[in-house]
Amino acid sequence: MKTNEVLENIKSRRSIRAYTARQVSKDDLLTILEAGAYAPNGMHLETWHFTAIRDAQKLEELNMHIKGAFAKSEDRHLQERGNSQTYCCYYHAPALVIVSNDPTQWWAAMDCACAIENMFLTAHSLGIGSCWINQLGTTCDDPEVRAYITSLGVPENHKVYGCVALGYADPAYPVKEKNLKTGTYHIV
Ligand SMILES: Cc1cc2nc3c(=O)[nH]c(=O)nc-3n(C[C@H](O)[C@H](O)[C@H](O)COP(=O)(O)O)c2cc1C
Repeated sequence: MKTNEVLENIKSRRSIRAYTARQVSKDDLLTILEAGAYAPNGMHLETWHFTAIRDAQKLEELNMHIKGAFAKSEDRHLQERGNSQTYCCYYHAPALVIVSNDPTQWWAAMDCACAIENMFLTAHSLGIGSCWINQLGTTCDDPEVRAYITSLGVPENHKVYGCVALGYADPAYPVKEKNLKTGTYHIV
């Protein structure tokens, strides 16, 4: 099989769930956001928006509102998370990008997924770890969560399709080797 720098970057990227306190520089964050905006998107309408947060207090407040929404859930597992003192949906990453879009575009989720993958790969190429964070996707319409993300600048007509945690991987938590399922693809 062929290889090159791009392929190596794709294959070596892993989800990072433990971060050091080192912040992602503004310059690197802008590079990652720009790569997201270069992603393919339906009819190139660019209806998406990326809200990047580097403020630790705001991230903690966001997590608190998400936990508040979980606590109201009928799902016991979510209730446990909502009532947990330690649960942090973004793994204490120093930066988080909220990726949102206008849900009236039926491809809104696909656009966001393309942007998120571009951000993951760009971050990895810069030595920055990342992980998809889904919890805001299911809670963004909770009134308290909505009011909070509106205050952060997430457009009011948008749904959240995913978030990108960003930071430097904590070496104390090495990532496991990735094994691929066989039979995922074939050529006719
Ligand atoms: C749509 C989607 C949602 C995900 N949500 C979460 C999440 O909320 N929290 C998390 O830790 N990982 C989440 N992940 C990461 C996956 O668990 C991860 O990509 C998968 O286990 C493969 O591992 P890798 O990314 O290291 O290759 C999500 C991934 C995708 C594509």
